[in-house]
Amino acid sequence: MKFLRRFKILGTGSYLPEKVLTNHDLEKIVDTSDEWIKTRTGIEKRHVARKDEATSDMVIEAAKVALENAKLQASDLGAIIVGTISPDTFFPSTACWVQKGLGIPGIPAFDISAACSGFMYSLEVASSMLPAIGKPILVAGSDLLSKITNWEDRGTCVLLGDGAGAVVIAPTDEDCGYLSSLLGADGSLGELLIQPAGGSRIPPTHEVLDKKQHLLQMKGNEVFKYAVRTMGDAAVAAIEQAGVNPKEIDLFIPHQANIRIIESTCKRANVPMEKTHITISWHGNMSAGTIPIAFHDAVSKGLIKRGSLVLFAAFGAGFTWGASVLKF
Ligand code: ACO
Repeated sequence: MKFLRRFKILGTGSYLPEKVLTNHDLEKIVDTSDEWIKTRTGIEKRHVARKDEATSDMVIEAAKVALENAKLQASDLGAIIVGTISPDTFFPSTACWVQKGLGIPGIPAFDISAACSGFMYSLEVASSMLPAIGKPILVAGSDLLSKITNWEDRGTCVLLGDGAGAVVIAPTDEDCGYLSSLLGADGSLGELLIQPAGGSRIPPTHEVLDKKQHLLQMKGNEVFKYAVRTMGDAAVAAIEQAGVNPKEIDLFIPHQANIRIIESTCKRANVPMEKTHITISWHGNMSAGTIPIAFHDAVSKGLIKRGSLVLFAAFGAGFTWGASVLKF
């Protein structure tokens, strides 16, 4: 088995806000039905952050669990990377707020903006940095989408949720880490899934707020088509580059935006649904948070053990995508 990059995942963690919004709750807000949401997306409920809760608050909770599972203190960390598109503030970065919350000034801390592929991008960067850092790195994926959701748009509000997942990775000589990892992007399709205003292109004004341009907008149908093709192709390429047979994959952790996208990715990559960890029903799409939360859930349940081969695949706004085969 040939390793692209050796690193060891020492611990995993996750955090979901306490408040839960069911499909039946949404029936009272927009013209939708539990039946439509379940059959078209696979989602049954999602978690929604408190008014006073920000992305870094969720990451800090997930990080504490990951550090405890890694049997490490925050002071053992050598860097913090957070994948997010819903930062506490544009600056400082969410990673800097996390660092403050953990009380460990001095080490590098920064965000990566790659939407639903944010955790895949962050893990790739973190594992590449490990030799230079030489100490464990906290890698988190988190999004708090409820505060940038248009709660009058039934095409998006039923899909999204809030949450954070984290892992602590460390340098190792053991046979674990990436067998393959690939990332991609196509900025020419950015308009299909976008938070149009609030940045330097369209700064925040009263007019922007009135037109709700500061909220997430998506052409769901078109995104769906690209997601199906791109996530499938990326998964196939990651398996090929890893030099393994799809049958050898022990568990597939896909980004969870829509159960139909996951089913079609499985078909394309030749990985059976029975070997795919599906968590979408209880949390919806939390963008960068989705994969690390599903990963922590699978590790906690013993579905992934030392030596397991794990396939990841993600697709999101940008467009961005990523896929990898990891030996745990
Ligand atoms: N409840 C009831 N009906 C609805 C709802 C709803 N919540 N939403 C849309 N509909 C209606 C539409 O208005 C349409 O009605 P019409 O035929 O009368 O016009 C009908 O349902 C079908 O609409 P479609 O958009 O064709 O439905 P589709 O089967 O494509 O499902 C969905 C829509 C779920 C949004 C799907 O397109 C999807 O999952 N897209 C991809 C989402 C995704 O992967 N996003 C990327 C990540 S998000 C991120 O990066 C932050």
